[in-house]
Amino acid sequence: MKKLAIIGASYLQLPLVEKANAMGIETHCFAWPEGAVCKEVAAYFYPISILEKEAILEKCTEIGIDGITTIATDMAVPTICYVAEKLNLISNSYASALASTNKGEMRKAFAAQCCAIPKFAVVTEWEREVPSLHFPVIVKPADRSGSRGVTKVLSTDDLPSAITYAIEESFSKQALVEEYIEGVEVSVESISWNGAHHILAITDKMTTGAPHFVELAHHQPSQLPAAVQEKIKSETLKCLNALEVKNGAGHSEFKITPEGDVFVIEVGARMGGDFIGSHLVELSTGYDFVKGVIAIALNSFEEPILNKHQFSGVYFLSKETEQIKSYFSSSNDFDVEKQIQSESLKLLTNSNDRSGYLIYQSNKKVELL
Ligand SMILES: Nc1ncnc2c1ncn2[C@@H]1O[C@H](COP(=O)(O)OP(=O)(O)OP(=O)(O)O)[C@@H](O)[C@H]1O
Ligand SMILES: [Mg+2]
Repeated sequence: MKKLAIIGASYLQLPLVEKANAMGIETHCFAWPEGAVCKEVAAYFYPISILEKEAILEKCTEIGIDGITTIATDMAVPTICYVAEKLNLISNSYASALASTNKGEMRKAFAAQCCAIPKFAVVTEWEREVPSLHFPVIVKPADRSGSRGVTKVLSTDDLPSAITYAIEESFSKQALVEEYIEGVEVSVESISWNGAHHILAITDKMTTGAPHFVELAHHQPSQLPAAVQEKIKSETLKCLNALEVKNGAGHSEFKITPEGDVFVIEVGARMGGDFIGSHLVELSTGYDFVKGVIAIALNSFEEPILNKHQFSGVYFLSKETEQIKSYFSSSNDFDVEKQIQSESLKLLTNSNDRSGYLIYQSNKKVELL
């Protein structure tokens, strides 16, 4: 029986643990016990923080794991690559993991390979000097996700408080200040094997917009013109190569200006969260992405076959999307899965504030907002 280490045990990892169990794989899950819903589902659970790379390496060596992975947790990526590198298992290099989980390092790697990026500066508590950038700018922590600490700033006056907010949220106490790119936003879901990338889907993203840009909905396939999608795909390949992402899932985020220019916002060497990787890709394309990621971690790969052409998406419930609440109590022909997690609806400052989700599949895009 193959043994798979899974880093993280929150609800995000549940589809991974369940799929690996169903594939007859012995699952070994590592995470801080708080909120570890996979604890009861995995064959083995170890209450070790996902950041404790040495302790996880020691345990994985003792178990004799055959592979190690996660699906949507950025913070787990360096630990996974570290352990995989030490044990000669399939993943990306540790250096690649450091670049894909720090937005400052990532921007530098993109710049070195001529990927189109916004003008940016890295600031710290001590070095708050920002070179001349055009306002509006976006200020964000170098190493967080879920839009925590992200603010759009219109003028110099509001910059110090946005920098303080971002630095407070940052683990490494670093923030990025970068020029704001006007336009629509997409993500690209991909899977790579030995450095060859396969693009599975382009996802249209809808957010609250300024100031904090929290995701409200995602839809597949993208409705952008074919020529723009081709450009997005070629930028995705460039960005994955720039970060030396060679194996496993990729989630690349882009902004597309009204002129059709494509700027990279960030690339994760893992699946996208928000059910994009775990649910939407399979619903719209027929490809079992989670199974594909597990197979790669265990050193086997089958070329993805995209044999379904459906529309899928997810809506999140919040104060901003209050008008979709009735769809949670009615039975709709597009329903796949839905849940209200909290009765109180908030105006969003980050993705944890959201109160529920509704996943759909249909033969057309479902517009609820
Ligand atoms: N330079 C930029 N120009 C325009 N919009 C931006 C820029 N940088 C970030 N954004 C907006 O802010 C959102 C969050 O930024 P970013 O992805 O860098 O942070 P994050 O915390 O990793 O977010 P998430 O985990 O939700 O993807 C983006 O999805 C985008 O809508
Ligand atoms: Mg992002």
